[in-house]
Amino acid sequence: MEEKWWMKSVVYQIYPKSFCDSNGDGIGDLNGIRSKLPYLERLGVDVLWLSPVYASPGADNGYDISDYYGIDPVFGTMEEMKRLIAECEDRGMKIIMDLVVNHTSDEHAWFVEARKSKDNPYRDYYIWRPGTPGAPPNELASNFGGSAWEYSEETGEYYLHFYHKKQPDLNWENPAVRKEIWKMMNYWIDLGVGGFRMDVIDLIGKDPDRGIKENGPKLHEYLQEMNRETFGKKDLLTVGECWGATPEIGRLYSDPERRELSMIFQFEQIALDKVPGKQRWDLKPLYLPDLKKVFSKWQTQMEGKGWNSLFWNNHDLPRIVSRWGDDGAYRVESAKMLATLLHGMKGTPYIYQGEELGMTNAGFSRIEDFSDVESRNMAQSRRALGYSEEDILRSLKKKARDNARTPMQWDDSPKAGFTSGEPWLPVNPNCREINARQALADDASVFYHYQKLIRLRKEEPILVHGTYSLLLPEDEQIYAYTRSWQGKTWLIVCNFYGTCASFSYEGEGRCVLSNYETEERRDLRRVTLRPYEAGIYELTE
Ligand code: GLC
Ligand code: CA
Repeated sequence: MEEKWWMKSVVYQIYPKSFCDSNGDGIGDLNGIRSKLPYLERLGVDVLWLSPVYASPGADNGYDISDYYGIDPVFGTMEEMKRLIAECEDRGMKIIMDLVVNHTSDEHAWFVEARKSKDNPYRDYYIWRPGTPGAPPNELASNFGGSAWEYSEETGEYYLHFYHKKQPDLNWENPAVRKEIWKMMNYWIDLGVGGFRMDVIDLIGKDPDRGIKENGPKLHEYLQEMNRETFGKKDLLTVGECWGATPEIGRLYSDPERRELSMIFQFEQIALDKVPGKQRWDLKPLYLPDLKKVFSKWQTQMEGKGWNSLFWNNHDLPRIVSRWGDDGAYRVESAKMLATLLHGMKGTPYIYQGEELGMTNAGFSRIEDFSDVESRNMAQSRRALGYSEEDILRSLKKKARDNARTPMQWDDSPKAGFTSGEPWLPVNPNCREINARQALADDASVFYHYQKLIRLRKEEPILVHGTYSLLLPEDEQIYAYTRSWQGKTWLIVCNFYGTCASFSYEGEGRCVLSNYETEERRDLRRVTLRPYEAGIYELTE
């Protein structure tokens, strides 16, 4: 495959609301982000993905957009946005914008018009069906719980919303809608952004009458049109959020010959610690061989025919060190192990703010502490179904989205250096030990391990191009694989748990990177891996 700049990049996701507050209102903002560019440059990332900063009433923390051309005043101004783009460019970094176009806010001018009357020119921008109060058109459910249909008094019809009722779904069948979206994307491209992360893009081909949400019949047709009409000739990074993707589907999006997107986020591994067929709130422990199976399937089946994204975390997922590492005694070791395991693979890695510090889950202790709309809806509906309070709390502590959304921990002061005011979501009290100031002062911190992994990707083509091959598929404790390229082989070996494990591989290796003190050359024939030990070795014989 032709080498593209984003194959060597590492993307850093910023959740602006929780990143850095410059004016003391308790909400992160664009000037806060600008003030932290030196920190991000030091980490070495070269692309910043901003979760939405557009004008929004905030029913879903900005994923409900009321004006795609405006910055929400809480985050700043368009002038500040332009400055941010320019300052990033000076530092060799690009901004990628969140593109939320499956739905708008119900306060977007299009919807305000559309709901007025059945013959309003904007009516067909959205999806309306007849029905009577209490009897929605069909059984389709919202991803946030309850029906996907909301009755609209003005015209006595229902409109479709796959998320919150304040997030009406756009009607992509309507060419006028698509034209408006291309125009908006081109506006941002002209402002100099480096690409787009496309929110729930696999839903735009929906066919609600046939119950089709994901992967609808016209999805790829629309994406090819998007590519032609917007970024196709521009060499941007585009990544689609695709919850229901398989590798076959992944190739449809990212095979360069099809001219759609650079890559997608797939979520198969994310389902491995829930009861199959149930919701993610229904917890089950991860079985390591399952994780290997999923990652290896994607690594192998995308080889040469598409491109993977690599991530553990985002603003919708709990913190990885709390989820599959150890956020107690081995927090630092396990955070580095998880980073090594992921960044050793083929694809473009994404780091979610605070992951490079080994930040943990929120540490909330009451159901009321969780403020996210999805969590609130879940608690309400599970109470009605008779779940116990303990059950609900256990699920929230493990999986709630707020776990990733507590403020970024910059220093050990009470508000973690995030704000001088009252943060919109409580700061995790463990900021006393876990924070950027501490990490920068400690050579052995998680931060510097990420820095090394990022640098390796820039310096070593084998990390970008090497073919992946899994070792020990059945082993329940060790995740090991190789990358091979132009006669060179790297071995990546990770002990996934907190007890020692024996490992053996024919040969000797030069240690490229480890999360423990290790000899420069190591006989790999008989190795005892320490708790959460992870290393990258170049095979020498
Ligand atoms: C995506 C976003 C999530 C949002 C949803 C609806 O999954 O990542 O935060 O709630 O789409 O826009
Ligand atoms: Ca602010």
